Amino acid sequence: MTQKDFIDTNHFTKEELMDIVNLSLSLKKCIKAGYYPPLLKNKTLGMIFQQSSTRTRVSFETAMEQLGGHAQYLAPGQIQLGGHETIEDTSRVLSRLVDILMARVERHHSVVALAKNATIPVINGMSDYNHPTQEMGDIITMIEHLPKGKNLEDCKVVFVGDATQTCASLGFITTKMGMEFVHFGPKGFQLRENHIKIMEENCKVSGGSFSITEDADVALAGADFVYTDVWYGLYEAELSEEERMGIFYPKYQVTMDMMKKANPEAKFMHCLPATRGEEVTDEVMDSDLSIAFDEAENRLTAMRGLLVYFLGMDKPNPEKIQEVKAELDSILVDIFSEKILMMN
Ligand code: CP
Repeated sequence: MTQKDFIDTNHFTKEELMDIVNLSLSLKKCIKAGYYPPLLKNKTLGMIFQQSSTRTRVSFETAMEQLGGHAQYLAPGQIQLGGHETIEDTSRVLSRLVDILMARVERHHSVVALAKNATIPVINGMSDYNHPTQEMGDIITMIEHLPKGKNLEDCKVVFVGDATQTCASLGFITTKMGMEFVHFGPKGFQLRENHIKIMEENCKVSGGSFSITEDADVALAGADFVYTDVWYGLYEAELSEEERMGIFYPKYQVTMDMMKKANPEAKFMHCLPATRGEEVTDEVMDSDLSIAFDEAENRLTAMRGLLVYFLGMDKPNPEKIQEVKAELDSILVDIFSEKILMMN
């Protein structure tokens, strides 16, 4: 393992990411068979959320519980972060109180500062720049739904709509894996130069490819996975319903007609939550083509793998345990012998 933290899938090699994927898939099989390996027994995860969340929060907490550990939800207003304590000091303190941290932050520099100052692993649960844990679950979902006779590297993934953090992370991981990635979105809402540079570097190593286009036919021809996300925009740059519909509707709405432009076996993906009737129709979301709810389930699959990958190798030293146990026994005997004598 070369990294302490999981801030960006791009900090990892394809082989390291595949180790996490394979670990996740194996743990999923164990749990489905009714075997809950206690790999995280006595481990505590601190979960910092500066934003609301359903999938990320619930999947991290469930993963810890299933593997014998515990998670603490550290919501805004419940801890000092952002109030009287800096992010750097919060990181130093939590490093001494829990075993691993995850953070969903408003600004990417916050999760980077957490990781820099922490002595424990830090996992990025989404920032305004990227969403790496989502993409681990998405790659797992694609592997489970590979078109017949194809490997991951043979697949074409098309992201439709606004260049959200999920779009950026999807571009990063697919190009890292050697896949073909297309962003089909309107000018002004496309992946930017900094994203393009990273995808170019990935493709040089992996043999993958990427493109950005406003042409639906070019984008969707031969697509194996058609992916979309909400059109709101981010934080202070959020668009009103009228504005976003004016920009993206109807061209970038995933409809059955759009799905027909892709491969006949193509699957529809969405990181969720979905705004039905905007970026996707009910007909597509609820069709057999949709694997959006498998993706939601695989957030849990990925979280188990990530948590074990970063924590599972901590093994107690049996000699040290003997030594500290003997000291504790002696202190307990002293205290309770005195108490018994006093009672008599
Ligand atoms: N996809 C995703 O991150 O969902 P939540 O915002 O509910 O965590």
